[in-house]
Amino acid sequence: MTALVLRNVRACDPARELDAVVDVVVEDGRITRLGRGAGAELLEARSDRVRVVEGAGMLVVPSFVDLHAHAREPGQEYKEDIRSALAAAAAGGFSDVCVMPNTRPVNDTRAIAEMIVEKGRACGSARIHPIGAITVGQAGEALTEMADLRDAGCVAVSDDGRCVTSSAVMRRALEYAGTFDLPVIQHAEDHALTEGALMHEGAVSARLGVRGWPRVAEDIIVARDLILAEYTGSRYHLAHISTEGAIRLVREAKARGVRVTCEVTPHHLLLTDESLLGWDTACRVNPPLRERGDRDALRAALADGTIDCVATDHAPHSALEKDCELEAAAPGMIGLELCVPILLGLVEEGALPLPRVIDALTRAPARIVGLEPPSLREGAPACLAVLDPGRVWRVEAARLKTKSANTPLYGREVKGRVLMTLVAGRVVHEVEGGA
Ligand code: DOR
Repeated sequence: MTALVLRNVRACDPARELDAVVDVVVEDGRITRLGRGAGAELLEARSDRVRVVEGAGMLVVPSFVDLHAHAREPGQEYKEDIRSALAAAAAGGFSDVCVMPNTRPVNDTRAIAEMIVEKGRACGSARIHPIGAITVGQAGEALTEMADLRDAGCVAVSDDGRCVTSSAVMRRALEYAGTFDLPVIQHAEDHALTEGALMHEGAVSARLGVRGWPRVAEDIIVARDLILAEYTGSRYHLAHISTEGAIRLVREAKARGVRVTCEVTPHHLLLTDESLLGWDTACRVNPPLRERGDRDALRAALADGTIDCVATDHAPHSALEKDCELEAAAPGMIGLELCVPILLGLVEEGALPLPRVIDALTRAPARIVGLEPPSLREGAPACLAVLDPGRVWRVEAARLKTKSANTPLYGREVKGRVLMTLVAGRVVHEVEGGA
């Protein structure tokens, strides 16, 4: 057994109100000691079974849990596969990643969910947790066998990429999933209001002469779903919230005791529709990048806890789907490996408090899908990430584990790098010559 000592690191775990410069000792897959000078004994022993990482300037946090990623396997392995998605997750500081069912075929049966779990396990990297479809083929009509999906390892159900538009189907989905307390994750988009839309409907879409997706297409679905969640008493989770109106609805529903949670993506926290002024197809996403007022409201709602967590909506697409006109481009951008630089940047700007950001990436999402929250606690499994907030790096293929390059940050320098990720003591990511 080799022990790992992270020496003089800034350890931050808001769940424990911990923010201090300490040593973190990992032995046998667990954090065995944490405190000032906690590694001294092992360091004195100078055994070659002890690995020391000098941590001055580094930040150690519980590893992250992503509720929303697209691994594209089965069916679109030219964009991503389970192995590359999990490598990208580990490189982004994630120990756990929940993958959406809009694969080809859709993950709507036990056999597919089991295949995903088995392939994920065989990678020995970050851990995968499938999300099963709400309706067969994500067609919005017949409910899937959710009991089977749950038994196969699905942690939630969603038709992400498509909205469950029928109120009757949504009601039954909430009732069925509610019998075993599985969260129902909604992609809130009234498709009748977004037909042909390429971006947010506002001054920028008018200027470009492009059909827009109005905020109300999201708000209308959220309002209806919250009424249904209250009526059924079931758990409802809103994916990639993007409008000020949806925030208001969620805030009111939470105050009434409705069992609702929601997530926001790093790109909706960072960017606005103005990013599309140069026709950059990497900025075409669903829901679309909104206006400054929405973006600021998202930041405030994440800070005050109305928005529970950050989820990447990592949506890899190849050059085939992105090196084309905006109209032909597939919506989505990669996110797993850019989450840390984007969020640490917002912390540095003073837009978000660090403890809330960490909570929103660790404990909060873990609780929503019933996973053990990663924790910097003595005795806990060593699920943690070592970050260098000051490290500047260029976003380019040689430095990314994902197969795709669809991000407006591609080719640019960003600040904040994940140097190491541990899953139950196993090093699943390490920057060479890094930590
Ligand atoms: O931008 C998006 N891309 N939003 C979605 O809801 C689906 C996703 C994808 O699968 O590419």
